[in-house]
Amino acid sequence: MLATFSSQELIALEQRYGAHNYHPLPVVLAKGKGVYLWDVEGRRYFDFLSAYSAVNQGHCHPRIIQALIEQAQTLTLTSRAFYNDKLGLYEQFITEFFGYDRVLPMNTGVEGGETAIKICRKWGYEVKGIPTNQAKIIFARRNFWGRTMAAISSSTDPKSFTNFGPYMPGFEIIPYDDIPALAAALEDPHVAGVMLEPIQGEAGVIVPQEGYLKQVSALCRTKNVLFIADEVQTGIARTGRMLACDYENVKPDILILGKALSGGVYPVSAVLTSHEIMNCIRPGEHGSTYGGNPLACAVAMAALQVVKDENLAENAERMGHIFRARMNAMIQKTDKVTQVRGKGLLNAIVINDTPESDTAWNLCLAMKERGLLAKPTHGNIIRFAPPLVITEEQLHQCCDIIEDAVQSLL
Ligand SMILES: Cc1ncc(COP(=O)(O)O)c(C=O)c1O
Repeated sequence: MLATFSSQELIALEQRYGAHNYHPLPVVLAKGKGVYLWDVEGRRYFDFLSAYSAVNQGHCHPRIIQALIEQAQTLTLTSRAFYNDKLGLYEQFITEFFGYDRVLPMNTGVEGGETAIKICRKWGYEVKGIPTNQAKIIFARRNFWGRTMAAISSSTDPKSFTNFGPYMPGFEIIPYDDIPALAAALEDPHVAGVMLEPIQGEAGVIVPQEGYLKQVSALCRTKNVLFIADEVQTGIARTGRMLACDYENVKPDILILGKALSGGVYPVSAVLTSHEIMNCIRPGEHGSTYGGNPLACAVAMAALQVVKDENLAENAERMGHIFRARMNAMIQKTDKVTQVRGKGLLNAIVINDTPESDTAWNLCLAMKERGLLAKPTHGNIIRFAPPLVITEEQLHQCCDIIEDAVQSLL
């Protein structure tokens, strides 16, 4: 199919008519399949961002698209004013899949975070007995869980919060991967929950020390505080396990999922927890017009089944080892990259330049020219997160592209 508009024309339209709240790489995508994306001029790229890990199952996975089409032709949305014939089946499916009692379905990842915090505060007042409006939730420095008022109120990134105040009270920030700091914060009896990413994705793929999550979970238990794991980015096989918490055999009290829960097809998020905690929420206290709609339920069941049937966690773990081995070998031969880090197929390289420099951006442009799409996160860090269906041969091709692009840097 010939493009009706050129990339330049389409970029110009966004520039003219859209809010400038993103700074995209200059590539206009029109088609996706598996690990590949095509731009409007028909050039093919490896996708090394996967829509921020929403497309773990690969672009337009046939089984997920089939589920979407079949359900879209039957029933899409009824609202939660009535029951629908997919929600109960989905709720049973996802709770059994992840080993929880109950689920609260929402749409975007940030709504999942908001929901988890509301449930946690309610539990804090009604079960733990925290005095009214005194509940605290602890977050880690450099967390990222979205752009709502609550999310930016817990953010330490000035770009996220500057000039958007006043902020939501009741949030406390401690350093990430710092157990003594957490232990000190938990001395406060008004703490209801601790919300953490098992690996900080947007911060630049910050992997905590082994045992961190286990200690967080144990400390929370001792202090009667809920451990909320934000697995919106790390979950659904991205890090080489179904959940990143699985590496440490930790079961969070509240689990937040999003992104790849729908394989990139539709916004679906979920908050999973126990009977005791979820029962704090009663009719009229929380919800969303689209949350739990039949289309979302059908898509999410197909998306999770694909992850299991295609052993994507195993593939992510195996490909991740190969990727980091290749990048570590490259680092021996260049002074332009100082580090590679990550787990499974959530990885990042650190460019040997200041976060303010445009070296990482230029490297992303050089990779784009060679047919691979990735994006800097926080200046001099580039995240590499391809769809988990990538094969070993494709991965080696991609590592060749990255090496060649790094060598081309001045
Ligand atoms: C860890 C984490 N939580 C929550 C979110 C928010 O998800 P959404 O953009 O779907 O609202 C993100 C998005 O990048 C994320 O990385």
